[in-house]
Amino acid sequence: MCPKSDLPEYAFVGRSNVGKSSLINMLTNNSKLAMTSSTPGKTLLINHFIINNAWYLVDLPGYGYAQRGKKVMEDIKNLIQHYILERTQMTCLFVLIDSRLEPQKIDLAFIEWLGENGIPFALVFTKADKQNISKTRQNVNRFLDTLKEQWEELPLHFITSAEKKTGRKELLDYIESINRSL
Ligand code: GTP
Ligand code: MG
Repeated sequence: MCPKSDLPEYAFVGRSNVGKSSLINMLTNNSKLAMTSSTPGKTLLINHFIINNAWYLVDLPGYGYAQRGKKVMEDIKNLIQHYILERTQMTCLFVLIDSRLEPQKIDLAFIEWLGENGIPFALVFTKADKQNISKTRQNVNRFLDTLKEQWEELPLHFITSAEKKTGRKELLDYIESINRSL
């Protein structure tokens, strides 16, 4: 299912409908690259998009979409966990969080699992265009404050909007800086 290649990969993970596919399209300036949908659970497989013949953006299925049924949810969870634990060329995982919401248990539990397994990750708060910046800041700070209860050091975070292309340069610069250091 994954390409036989050892180029570095940057993967996007998060709750179903949080905006993973939209963010990949925003980063690549290609609105039709990754399939997006207002119906949650659109992406069910792992999709690799090669960039400049040098690295991959990886679109993962969303976690926590119960309407698909228990079995499908389990399968998706296993697929995501297996990719994250076994894909050695996965260089950084971007965990997407909906900037409109207060901290969600499922996101916190997922991040805790990443910590237990020593997975490098950064946070990406999505859909910042849906509200004013002070509300976004408030939700981001609440999320980070919650993490501080468990983590000594906070992960890097980005605030983005696929709609307004907010955070595009920051994310691409960050990926480039990692690529240069490899
Ligand atoms: P799954 O593949 O189902 O896990 O979802 P996903 O995380 O890939 O979400 P997707 O990119 O398909 O976006 C879900 C919905 O949110 C779509 O209707 C998008 O248009 C919308 N959306 C995504 N990002 C943004 C954003 O930054 N701003 C706004 N206003 N809408 C967004
Ligand atoms: Mg998707």
